[in-house]
Amino acid sequence: MKSEARYPSHIAVIMDGNGRWAKKRHMPRSVGHMEGVKTIDRIADAVFSRGIGYLTLFAFSTENWGRPASEVSGLLGLFKKYLKKNIPVLIGKNICLNILGDVSAFDEETLELVNEAYEKTHGLGGGVLNICFNYGGRAELVRAVNSLSGKTGITERDLSDALYTRGMPDPDIVIRTGGEHRISNFLLYQSAYSEIYFVDTLWPDFSGDELDKIIADYSATDRRFGKISE
Ligand code: FPP
Repeated sequence: MKSEARYPSHIAVIMDGNGRWAKKRHMPRSVGHMEGVKTIDRIADAVFSRGIGYLTLFAFSTENWGRPASEVSGLLGLFKKYLKKNIPVLIGKNICLNILGDVSAFDEETLELVNEAYEKTHGLGGGVLNICFNYGGRAELVRAVNSLSGKTGITERDLSDALYTRGMPDPDIVIRTGGEHRISNFLLYQSAYSEIYFVDTLWPDFSGDELDKIIADYSATDRRFGKISE
């Protein structure tokens, strides 16, 4: 069997290491998260300018509510600020912005911004930026199974279509920055055949150059999807 085309169409990232980045500089963790937002802008530009259609970022997990209240409210505030600032910016760049996760936990203003992002950017053709916020892979699967309850003969396609990523290609590459070797409940169903890259770089330091190295490595990898090479 001939190998699949070698350029990724979807990259997903677990953005880890903001806290340690700040700690190394004797600064509060919130500064690391603010720096992490700058990296989001940089890496989104890098991904879409390389013609990669989808970028999915893990920003806040269903487990992150267990962090100290000040950090949780800081992250929620940063998220709101991110949406306010970036909806017009992304429209200008022709990028579609989706928020994936349980949005029912958001306050009214954030929910309005999430809806605004959908309404104003849905269908824009320059790329799709998914921000996973209050997202958990298991919760996503439970939600999907519940939405299919009563249906018989459920196929992989049905399940796939019941996920937040409905209609999108599975990630070719999942990157985790920050040196830990875990998937942490991220895109559990969608990452079945993803190439996984664990890098030590802390998220605020992650660069387009490092992204290019990962893409080059991915391009040289023989993805067999459970089959064998020719
Ligand atoms: C992990 O670093 C990162 C997060 C929990 C959140 C990632 C968030 C951002 C990049 C900024 C907020 C996002 C948006 C979209 C506004 P960590 O805190 O676990 O770092 P550590 O492992 O070094 O402690």
